[in-house]
Amino acid sequence: MPTEQFTDRASYYAKLEELAGKSVSIQDLFKTEPKRMDNFVMREGPLRADFSKQAISENALKALQDFAAACHLEEWRAKLFAGDTVNTSEGRAVLHMALRGVGGSKEVQKDVKAMQKRMAIFADKVRGEGKFKAVVHIGIGGSDLGPRLVADAFQASGEMALDLRFAENVDGASINDALNGLDPKTTLVVVVSKSFTTQETRMNAEAARSWLTDKLGKKAGANFIAVTANRDGALDFDIPSEQIFDFWDWVGGRYSVWSAVGLSLQIAFGPKIFDQFLKGAAKMDMHFRDQPLQDNLPVMMALTGIWNRNVLGYSSQAVIPYARRIRKLAAFLQQLEMESNGKRITRDGKEAGLTCPIIWGDEGTNGQHAFFQWLHQGTPGAPVDFVAVLKDHSARPEHHMALLANCFAQSEALMLGKPEYKVREELEERADADAIAPQKTFPGNRPSTTITLDELSPFALGHLIALYEHKVFVQGVIWNVNSFDQWGVQLGKVLASTILEEMEADEKGEHDASTTALMGLVK
Ligand code: F6P
Repeated sequence: MPTEQFTDRASYYAKLEELAGKSVSIQDLFKTEPKRMDNFVMREGPLRADFSKQAISENALKALQDFAAACHLEEWRAKLFAGDTVNTSEGRAVLHMALRGVGGSKEVQKDVKAMQKRMAIFADKVRGEGKFKAVVHIGIGGSDLGPRLVADAFQASGEMALDLRFAENVDGASINDALNGLDPKTTLVVVVSKSFTTQETRMNAEAARSWLTDKLGKKAGANFIAVTANRDGALDFDIPSEQIFDFWDWVGGRYSVWSAVGLSLQIAFGPKIFDQFLKGAAKMDMHFRDQPLQDNLPVMMALTGIWNRNVLGYSSQAVIPYARRIRKLAAFLQQLEMESNGKRITRDGKEAGLTCPIIWGDEGTNGQHAFFQWLHQGTPGAPVDFVAVLKDHSARPEHHMALLANCFAQSEALMLGKPEYKVREELEERADADAIAPQKTFPGNRPSTTITLDELSPFALGHLIALYEHKVFVQGVIWNVNSFDQWGVQLGKVLASTILEEMEADEKGEHDASTTALMGLVK
């Protein structure tokens, strides 16, 4: 860990608040900072990020960069890539970048390569033999959200050779829907669980196994694969050793799509596409590792987030992909960001103050007809990450142009707003103008970042996801929280298991009156 703990965050925040003053007008910043487009737009490979519509002056940005340096960010970054125990509460290294060939020891790289080779051989075999027509991927959280997002996105560049389906929720409808209409003989079930203890995944795996065994008897085993960091757990679940694909405790669940957790993606789309995805992330890893803080994309993204959260006081952050194929981006980022940095206590056990905002969003333009009213006129609104893809994959250029026009218009509208005097001009002599004009006024000055990908290639997608991963790391360093544990999910799991046992046994345990009454509703 950094040798010297940095504790004086409060004085940095006070300085930043002073720089923010009463209000920073984004439109004024464009006028007073002629180099704004040079200083606030960054590109790395196929990804361009325009931070110029953030309500941050060049001076404030410089102060934020100094703050990041004072938090020992460079030291933390070096420790991360060296494979040090960055996840202190669980005593683990954090090396998802090693899955992309960046960082980690020689031994780690050797293990990764061996597993990747095994995955590619297996995927090619399944694709080549043609025995399987469908893959049912069972997993939840990090064992589901990444593969689901990526499966949609890969469809922009490759054909799905098999029908890829997902089952995550313990709600029986989830596994029923996934299996519906499939033939057990031609279905490969891939059970993905880092811990192999997750209730939802185990129940869905049991259900899928009975579905296979009912039809195939003993032969069902050949249709059942496990991906896990807990080989013993999978063996105890009667999955033969040769059907288990491993990953390692240094891969966090929400950072695991790059590991054997992506096996179903490799089977459905082929190892080459998956390899491009890894390469795209590796390029962003190297950018993050090697660039100075002021030229560093993930750092810039993290710092604008810190400004919005800790200085301007926004409690949420919207992410709106104007690209159907990555419409699950917000759901993926909810876990990545909120499970990583949704913490109230620092690494050294103190109150952390304001940390991760609520992450939310949906695809554009759909959101425009739903929650954009709130973004433009609600209180207090939220900063937005707009994500757009420049090349059309739908073969409908006129649709694509309209999609992009909407995306660019929304960030402009959020910034410009519409002043009351203009509304009054339009209302002319209307008798109720005093009541109506403020309602039709847009306050504007609402911050956003626009990220564009040249195209939705697997390489560019790797860039995008790795960008957010490293942003989360940087924010975790600044907030001084451990971004790689998730103790907050435990309590509910424990109580659910007690409640389940009691409901199954028709027993009355000790609960509050409300919970007892709810349990009583279940017959
Ligand atoms: O409940 C949260 C969580 O532990 C996530 O961190 C994880 O991604 C998910 O459950 C699934 O865990 P596993 O891959 O071990 O089944």
